[in-house]
Amino acid sequence: MLVILKENAQEVGKEAARMVASAVRANPKIVLGLATGSTPLGMYEELAVLHRAGSLDFSKAASFNLDEYLGLAHDHPQSFHYFMHSNFFSHVNFSPDKIHIPDGSIRSNYSEYCDGYERSIKSAGGIDLQILGIGRNGHIGFNEPNSSLASRTRLKELTRETMEDNRRFFPPGAEIPECAITMGIGTILDARRVLILATGKSKAAAVAKAIEGPISAAVSASALQLHPEVTFIIDEDAAYALTQREYYQRVLELTKKYTPEKLA
Ligand code: F6R
Repeated sequence: MLVILKENAQEVGKEAARMVASAVRANPKIVLGLATGSTPLGMYEELAVLHRAGSLDFSKAASFNLDEYLGLAHDHPQSFHYFMHSNFFSHVNFSPDKIHIPDGSIRSNYSEYCDGYERSIKSAGGIDLQILGIGRNGHIGFNEPNSSLASRTRLKELTRETMEDNRRFFPPGAEIPECAITMGIGTILDARRVLILATGKSKAAAVAKAIEGPISAAVSASALQLHPEVTFIIDEDAAYALTQREYYQRVLELTKKYTPEKLA
């Protein structure tokens, strides 16, 4: 596991975009796993800037989003479909048939639908690079505390805490979705490489538990300790509760010296 400490959220976004861009250039047919939320917004903006400058081509890439609220149509302004199109896909050149986002508008046959999502990931060759944010309660995707560490794509009930955190994206008085379709922790762990981003003090406790705490279903992100290629990119505020910061800094320097391709 690598921990990259950056001064602020803007630097986190830039570093994440640099890593994604270099992975796309190395493998134009890359399969990306994508996240929504406020954390990756800076990264998406940077990637769009690189694309507009002519130095980044997504035409052969494919993507699978982590999750979607259940009950929201694709054009609902708070849906993750809408989020992804307005914040990323409309600014770059993905081929529309290679974009996959769980369909929150389904009304039945949930597990068949979710099994089909898993099958599409497999038939695309699996996810090469998965981007994640982290919830205050340590969730990744919408794998709320006590999700099985072996879970696959499924319907998941959201905790009150997550619903409250999501309220800021909805107009005052609007109903907040209670369930989502989300890739499971097992699905995420199958990705060949994982980049997880965190910014702000409100994430500090979850980040410390994910990186330094025991592996526990109580903190879904701690399952990433089982993955051989995980990079955390976090700002000073999100790193606040870590006890081994100097060591992570040293590991980073040594990685640059001995295995720089790992950071490309
Ligand atoms: C979003 C997702 C969630 C968010 C997490 C952090 O697709 O899967 O796990 O990454 O809730 O959200 P923000 O970035 O808004 O703090």
